Amino acid sequence: MIRRFDGAQSAFHLQTAGTSYLFRVLPTGHLEQLYYGKRIDPESMEELSSLTEKRSFEPGGVIRYDTSTPPLVLEDICLELSSGGKGDIREPFLELVHADGSRTSDFLFEKAEISETKSPFETLPGSCAEDGRAERLTIILRDREYGLTLELSYCVWADCDCITRSARLVNDSGERVEVERLLSLQLDLPDSGYGVTCFHGAWVREMDRDTVSLPAGKFAMESRAGASSSRMNPFFLLHDPRATEDNGTAMGFNLIYSGNHYEAVEVNAYGKTRVVTGMNPQGFRWLLGPGESLEAPEAVMCWSDRGFGGVSRNMHRFVREHIVRGEWKRRPRPVLLNSWEASYFDFTEDTLLSLAGAGKELGVELFVMDDGWFGERSDDTRSLGDWDVNLRKLPGGLKGLSDKLRELGLDFGLWVEPEMVNVNSRLYEAHPDWAMAIPGKPHAEGRKQRVLDLANPAVQDFLIGKMTEVFSSADIRYVKWDFNRIFSDVYSPSLPPERQGETAHRYMLGFYRVMETLTARFPHILFEGCASGGNRFDLGILCYFPQIWASDNTDALSRARIQEGYSFGYPPSVISAHVSASPNHQTLRITPEDTRFHVAAFGLLGYELDLRGLSEEEKRAMSEEIRLYKAWREVFQFGDFCRGRSGNLHEWTCVTPDKSRAAGMLLQELTKPNTQFERYFAKGLEPGARYRFYSGDPGGLYEREDTVASGESLLSAGVKLAPGFGGTGRDGTIRLFLDFSSRLYLMEKI
Ligand code: DGJ
Repeated sequence: MIRRFDGAQSAFHLQTAGTSYLFRVLPTGHLEQLYYGKRIDPESMEELSSLTEKRSFEPGGVIRYDTSTPPLVLEDICLELSSGGKGDIREPFLELVHADGSRTSDFLFEKAEISETKSPFETLPGSCAEDGRAERLTIILRDREYGLTLELSYCVWADCDCITRSARLVNDSGERVEVERLLSLQLDLPDSGYGVTCFHGAWVREMDRDTVSLPAGKFAMESRAGASSSRMNPFFLLHDPRATEDNGTAMGFNLIYSGNHYEAVEVNAYGKTRVVTGMNPQGFRWLLGPGESLEAPEAVMCWSDRGFGGVSRNMHRFVREHIVRGEWKRRPRPVLLNSWEASYFDFTEDTLLSLAGAGKELGVELFVMDDGWFGERSDDTRSLGDWDVNLRKLPGGLKGLSDKLRELGLDFGLWVEPEMVNVNSRLYEAHPDWAMAIPGKPHAEGRKQRVLDLANPAVQDFLIGKMTEVFSSADIRYVKWDFNRIFSDVYSPSLPPERQGETAHRYMLGFYRVMETLTARFPHILFEGCASGGNRFDLGILCYFPQIWASDNTDALSRARIQEGYSFGYPPSVISAHVSASPNHQTLRITPEDTRFHVAAFGLLGYELDLRGLSEEEKRAMSEEIRLYKAWREVFQFGDFCRGRSGNLHEWTCVTPDKSRAAGMLLQELTKPNTQFERYFAKGLEPGARYRFYSGDPGGLYEREDTVASGESLLSAGVKLAPGFGGTGRDGTIRLFLDFSSRLYLMEKI
C-alpha cells in the first residue's frame, strides 16, 4: 500500500506485508527519510512528527542550507537523495557537471503521483507483475537553477516485503549536462554499527561470504569488469551485527543490472549510515543533451526481523514472482546432459549421439551440445563469431543432430557465445571495427577473444539476425548463452571520443535489446545465462533468462559453498548445477556420487561427464537419482529454500509453499573422529502437521531412516540419526559419514 499524508508538507508511506518505509517533504523541498523497518501504521501527519529529526542549533563546521529556523544541515539528516554541493558531503546519489562547469545540484520536490500499474523502462529491464498491477509512487523533483528534472520511482511488492527504486534524469534545460553518476537507491539510516555481508570471489570460486562491521568510514563493493562479475555480486546484506540465520534485523539489496555496479555503506560524522547502490560511476560519463533523459537501473531492498533467512526468502519470492518471466517462469526445468566436461571441443555427431544415448538410458531429458560446433573451432583460439555449423563434425548440421536426438527421445540444446569474437575468425576479418578496441592501439586479450561492440546498433542487429538464423535452423529447446571474458581497453569505435564514457553502459543497453528481441522471438526456448560460470549472475540477466550456470566449478564441496552463497539472494529455481566426474576437473577432489547428486539436486539438475564409461552400479545409482529428482523436482526447484547450520556441516531444506513436502540435505565437509551422533533439523515445515521422515538415498547403500514425527519436533528437536563410525568397530547399525559425505531426507505430510 502507498499512502500519502498531506499537511503543510506531504509525507509518503510505502507499506508491504511486514515493513514500512516513510519519508516526507521538508519545507525547503528536500526529502527526509523517516523510517525503514517493521511495519507501523501511523494515522496522521502529526503522528509522523515523532519520527522527524529534532534540531535547535547549528553545530560548528557545517553548512546551513538557508536561514530557516531550526537550521537545516543536510549533512546531518536522513535524505532520500543527495545531489551534493549544498553541504551534504556524504556519498551523493548523483553527480552532474553543468554547462557552466559547476558540480552543484539541488533537486527539490515538485509533485508526486501514485498509480496502480508499472510501465516497463524504456532502456532497461525491470521488475514486473503478471497482471501488470503494481503500486507505484513517482516523485518529481526539480533543480530550479539548472532546469533539470529527476524522477524517483518506487514500487511496493507487498507479497515479498520488497520495495524497488529507480531514477530517471530529464534534461529539460537548453544546455548539455554531463552525468558522472546517477545511482538507483539511497537509504539513510539514523544510526550506525551495522554489519555488511558481501559475496565476492573469482572464476570457480564464486559467492564467498564475508562480513565487516562498520563503526566509521566507508565500505565499497563494486564491479569494473564490464559485467556484474564474480568479483563482487551486486547482492549484499546490511544487518545488526548480532543477526543470525533466523534472528535479528537484516536488510537485503540488489540491483537489476548486469554491468559495472557500485554499492557503498558509509557512516558519517554524525553516526548516520548511508547505503547507495547503482551503476558504477567509475569510468562513467554520459552527455545528456537538451530534451534527453537517462534511466538508472532499478534497485531492490527488503527488511526482515527474521535474520538472513527472512531476507533470503523474501528475495527468493521477489526473483521468482517479479523478475523471472515468460513461459519458463513456473515450468519444471528438464534434467540435462551437457557435453562440455564429457568431451570439451573434441566431438563428432557420432560421439555426441552415443553420449546422449547413454544419458537417455539414465533418464536425461535434454542434451546440450556445448562449445566447439561452429566454424573451425577445435580449441578456444578461433572462430567465435562464425556461427556456421562445422560440417566435418556435424555432417547433417544442427537439424541433423536435433532430428536424431528427437528419435532418441531427447530435446536438443545449444551453446552460443554471441557477444564475442576471435581475431582468428571470418567475422573479425570482415568487421574489425565491430570489436571493442581503441583504434590504432594494442589490445589486452582475455581467453584469446575480444568483446564485440554492442554499443553499436549495427552489431546488435547482426547478432539478432545471426542468432535468429541459428535458433530457427533446428528444433532447439534450450540455449546456453556464454560470455567468457571481461572488458579491457574499453572503447566503442562507433562512438565519438567525447562519448567514450558511455561505452560500458551503452553496451549493456545494446545487450538488453538483443536479449529482449530474441527471447520475445523464441519464447519456447529455455535460455540459460553463463559467463565462465557465475561472472554475470544478476537480476538483469534473470529478467530475460530464467536460469544461470552458477559456476564452472562442479566439485560438490565447492558447489555446496557456492550455491549456499547464492542462496542468500537467489532461489534454487535460477541456479543451474551439474553432477560431474570424480576426480573433479577443477579441484581434482574425489567425492562420493550421492554427494554430487545431493548438491546439484538443490538447484536445476544436470549431468556433465562422460556417462559411457560408467559401471553398472554407477548407472543404477544415477538413474535412481534422476528418477527421484523428477518425482521431487517441484520441491527442489520451486520450494522455499532454507539454510540450517553452515560451516563444516551444510544443512539445507526445501519446502513446498503448502508445506506438504520437503527435502533436506546434511553435508559434512570433514569427518571429526569420535563424534558419533548427528541430528538433522528441518526448516519451514508446518509445526502442527505430522510428517513421514525418510532417507532419500536412492541407491539404498546406507542406512534408511524412516520415522513419523510432528513438524514441531522435526523443527526443534531434529531427528537423531543412526550413529556414525566412531573409530572402533563397525556393524550394520553404524552410519558411514566420511569426508564430503552427505545425506538426503524426504518429508511428506501425512
Ligand atoms: C565457459 C562455460 O562456463 C563452460 O561451461 C563452457 O561452456 C565453456 N565456457 C565453453 O567454452
